[in-house]
Amino acid sequence: MIKIGIIGGAGYTAGELIRVLGNHPEAEIDFVYSTSSAGKPVHEIHHDLYGETDLMFTSEINQNVDLMFLCLGHGKSKAFLENGSISSAVKIIDLSHDFRLAENSQFQDRKFIYGLPEFQKDAISTAGNIANPGCFATAIQLAILPLADAKLLNDDLHVHAITGSTGAGQSLSATTHFSWRNNNVSVYKAFTHQHLLEIGETVTTEQPGFDHAINFVPVRGNFTRGIFSTVYTKTDLSLNQLTELYKSFYDDTVFTHISEQPIHLKQIVNTNKCLLHLEKHGDKVLITSIIDNLVKGASGQAVHNMNLLFGLKENHGLQLKPILY
Ligand SMILES: NC(=O)c1ccc[n+]([C@@H]2O[C@H](COP(=O)([O-])OP(=O)(O)OC[C@H]3O[C@@H](n4cnc5c(N)ncnc54)[C@H](OP(=O)(O)O)[C@@H]3O)[C@@H](O)[C@H]2O)c1
Repeated sequence: MIKIGIIGGAGYTAGELIRVLGNHPEAEIDFVYSTSSAGKPVHEIHHDLYGETDLMFTSEINQNVDLMFLCLGHGKSKAFLENGSISSAVKIIDLSHDFRLAENSQFQDRKFIYGLPEFQKDAISTAGNIANPGCFATAIQLAILPLADAKLLNDDLHVHAITGSTGAGQSLSATTHFSWRNNNVSVYKAFTHQHLLEIGETVTTEQPGFDHAINFVPVRGNFTRGIFSTVYTKTDLSLNQLTELYKSFYDDTVFTHISEQPIHLKQIVNTNKCLLHLEKHGDKVLITSIIDNLVKGASGQAVHNMNLLFGLKENHGLQLKPILY
């Protein structure tokens, strides 16, 4: 069994990680560290885990584990590793932005590999530490990776993506308050969202010299989970050629599928899947890409990375079914 520690236990991604790992045949949660909830049962904060686990939040960190997941906010993972003297024998999967970009990927004696399995599975399999991708970044990269890999991104990309409120974490804010969010939709960080940086690094690795704009308009949705994104760009390829390209690129991947039917969010919520759908309109391809922000966009992808790091079957613990109605 892989012995696991979870840091930032009271947050949304930690709760989702505990839920997914609870059904993993080769992983065992050793401790769930929490600054806010030490001493309380885990199910007192993560109510969906009532009856699922007797784990308690703790203020003690056991160094004698194989892997720690850091479920901390921006800047907090770096601070945690700076202050925590975690043994370099312990592998780290970090869910924050702190180590995703190449310029931040070396920290102390740790090298972090960007953990998007569809992009670099082999590098992940031999890594010591993983920087788990952002949720929007996951949905958008999976929408465009086959075109970038074939060096066929030849024009500006236009991206709209709408996210559920859990994407913002468990802290209450003006824009996650029920009265504001319910029955409401709004744009934020248009053209400037921080995930553009990691998307840009992947695209230029796959297609060196790419110098077109990625125009990204993120939208806050009035639902709790999921990301529904559309990307369109000009292409000379026919729909048949595009479908062939995408199917062949994702042929040996476990969680990304090309749907010939139009797709909708309920098909992927609670799963580690990404569904893609392609349409051709005149000289443009429209790619729809959908994921669960907390699973494929965070904790499920983190467990997928763990499976790769430890040489396990990729879908161990991740055979999750959505709820349609
Ligand atoms: N939510 C998503 O859909 C999503 C998707 C992809 C990536 N991510 C990234 O994953 C990380 C965790 O996200 P999340 O949604 O789980 O966040 P969250 O719900 O806000 O939880 C973060 C946890 O960090 C801990 N923490 C420790 N020190 C803290 C401090 N000084 N201030 C605030 N919190 C502190 C808290 O847990 P304790 O009280 O137990 O210590 C808190 O619950 C973030 O970096 C986020 O960007 C999130």
